[in-house]
Amino acid sequence: MVDRKAIEEAQAHFGKVLEQQLERVERLKKEGDWTDYSKISPIIIGIIGGDGIGPTITAESQRVLEYLLRDQVKRGKIQFKVVEGLTIENRAAKMKAIPEDVLAEIKKCHVTLKGPTHTPEQGDGWPNIESANVAMRKELDLFANIRPVRVPSQNIDWTFFRENTEDLYAVGSQGINVTTDLAVDFRVITTQGCERIIDAAFAHAKRTGKKKVTAVTKANIVKTTDGKFLDIMRKIAGRYAGIEWDSWYIDIMTAKLLDIKRRNQFQVLVLPNLYGDILTDEAAEIQGGVGTAGSANAGKRYAMFEAIHGSAPRMVQEGRVQYADPSSMLRASAMLLDHIHFPELGSRLNKALDVCGQYEKKVVITGRKEGATCKQFGDYVMATVEDASLDKRWDACVKAKG
Ligand code: IPM
Ligand code: MG
Repeated sequence: MVDRKAIEEAQAHFGKVLEQQLERVERLKKEGDWTDYSKISPIIIGIIGGDGIGPTITAESQRVLEYLLRDQVKRGKIQFKVVEGLTIENRAAKMKAIPEDVLAEIKKCHVTLKGPTHTPEQGDGWPNIESANVAMRKELDLFANIRPVRVPSQNIDWTFFRENTEDLYAVGSQGINVTTDLAVDFRVITTQGCERIIDAAFAHAKRTGKKKVTAVTKANIVKTTDGKFLDIMRKIAGRYAGIEWDSWYIDIMTAKLLDIKRRNQFQVLVLPNLYGDILTDEAAEIQGGVGTAGSANAGKRYAMFEAIHGSAPRMVQEGRVQYADPSSMLRASAMLLDHIHFPELGSRLNKALDVCGQYEKKVVITGRKEGATCKQFGDYVMATVEDASLDKRWDACVKAKG
């Protein structure tokens, strides 16, 4: 016998989900323009430590940023602001993904650099509250998760534009157990959500002189939502003469990232949230591991920069936190510099990270005491950024490996 009552309850729940999402669409229609940082003074950079190794690698990145921006700070163009309280202890005590007072502080910053935060899962001892990352992306409408992966000596230069507020993540905590046997989650894709992420990907390609944008979906199977994503890809591509586009399925794309004959043809990739989550971890591994990759979570008003990995609680439990690798947060810092209109500083920091982390490797982090500490690596990066012959050194490294 079909349980009619269960179906009715599920329908009511589904109705509420749809109502919220249609309200969100209305908000998206009224969205303003991208922030122009050249007109803002001071630009407030929030520093959020997070959990586990987060405070250590974030503090190290703050030190490097403060050093690179020292003239701007003196001139009053930049101000740093430490935001406390985005910790699992405080979030669990308040039973909130982001406690209200913390969110209010975050909203006082134009951009933030955020360490990894612990994401509880059923049965891990913490209350199963929503991920702080996901909540922050939704609260601040940080729809573009931009994740670059570069291996210059292999001619790999990918920029992933992962949609950050929709797909299975939009209502990931609002799925339903219709009966004890039937569980249903909801996948949400909107016209406005697709348009803005796809347009951001093409605009980036145009600005950086890239020639191709690749869409990644599973539109042959997930016909309605991925079908919409692809339809909108076609429409937006039409507005960007001179930039080619193509479309791949997520399964074969995971294989092609490993195909050395093919993979350096990909340039800018745009994809729904969950595919982007998975594919960018794989891509980061090709660059040297998730510990080496940073990401921007950009919305039109706010932006947050973070590592793509988690908080590594094991390193803390085993007393190895001082050996944590700050590379991912330093890459995120380079993206932050680029975003607030200091592209030369961002590019210098990236080159220094290439030289220190991928090529010269004079100071090597292993995560254990045989390796360097987070601070020693930070010193190495700072000295490299300041080196007047950094460009030459970088060219020599890339050539030697090529
Ligand atoms: C990421 C992470 C997050 C995600 C988790 C921590 C919620 O894996 O930033 O890729 O799935 O988006
Ligand atoms: Mg991930």
